[in-house]
Amino acid sequence: MTNRIEIVQPDDWHLHLRDGDMLSSVVGASAQHFRRAIIMPNLVPPVVTQADAQNYASRIEAATKQAIDSNMLHADTRFTPLMTLYLTDESDATDIVSASKAGVIKAVKLYPAGATTNSASGVTDIDKVMPVLEAMAEHNIVLCMHGEITRSDVDIFDREKGFIDEVLAPLRERLPELRIVLEHVTTADGVEFVQSQASNTAATMTPHHLLLNRNNMLVGGIRPHYYCLPILKREEHRQVLLDAALSGDKRFFLGTDSAPHTANTKEAPCGCAGVFNAPNTMSTLAQLFDDADALSMLEGFTSRNGPNFYQLPINDSTMTLEKSEQPVSFPESIQVGAEKVVVFDPAQPLFWRVVEVA
Ligand code: NCD
Ligand code: ZN
Repeated sequence: MTNRIEIVQPDDWHLHLRDGDMLSSVVGASAQHFRRAIIMPNLVPPVVTQADAQNYASRIEAATKQAIDSNMLHADTRFTPLMTLYLTDESDATDIVSASKAGVIKAVKLYPAGATTNSASGVTDIDKVMPVLEAMAEHNIVLCMHGEITRSDVDIFDREKGFIDEVLAPLRERLPELRIVLEHVTTADGVEFVQSQASNTAATMTPHHLLLNRNNMLVGGIRPHYYCLPILKREEHRQVLLDAALSGDKRFFLGTDSAPHTANTKEAPCGCAGVFNAPNTMSTLAQLFDDADALSMLEGFTSRNGPNFYQLPINDSTMTLEKSEQPVSFPESIQVGAEKVVVFDPAQPLFWRVVEVA
């Protein structure tokens, strides 16, 4: 029985760090394990210009340094935010290309307007941003997509499939060169679409969509801390996701979608969408891969496939994980000012933990 593994240090290819006090409180949970992270731009107001991205990166770096200085993080911690821009109907192709050439951004994020948390400034019609997408294809800039259609007549459980049929598949044909990530894929339809495409279409997967189905959220009481977007799906979808993650297919890699909201805003009559999983993502995944007898596939999923797609070097650092006899415990929540943010409950004991990053 394997009880210790060493892997290339992982990256997180989809992360919400927020800003201000929330940023200061949550950045450590990601920086302690992940060497790099693609930082989502859905602040209020959103991160739209090169200057916005530069300023936000500086605030993330300052918050990381502060966490090191106050001994919340190990002194050797290295954490690089990989910035993204938020695509709007008015986005400026010249600024986006310049931000990419300057190395300020690694991707552009498309939120269909109204699809999720802070997406009011999102794209209302893909045709409006076609000139920008053409420039991105020409300059090899990655497009990250929140893959859900937002028309009110489309059922929430069918919104990913609707997006693939109506937006993604036509775009894929129109701009075959564009590198596209279908973010936080949740359905068999999404996985099968990516599998049917060339290597410049990829998908990120979250720990919670790999681990849970919609019963976990809705049977025996409604669990607001499992409410996220795209919403958890049926078990048969989860199985397809898990098979793809375990398969070694380079087009699938980890994006935690760790998305902190304070407990009072989630445990509410109209609760916010988002799961805060950064503290236990690596334990969750090691457990999941181990339970499937596929620990040898973990490194590809967390540490190699992402850099391969983003055309970046893999990390020169390593992470060691150990399996103990007793379940590992995690704090139930972290404090953010007077409020708390509840940590993802994997709904099963985890025996794996990170023991070293070096
Ligand atoms: C994210 C957030 O809170 O910013 N919420 C979520 O449920 N995943 C936005 C997103 O990625 O959809
Ligand atoms: Zn997200």
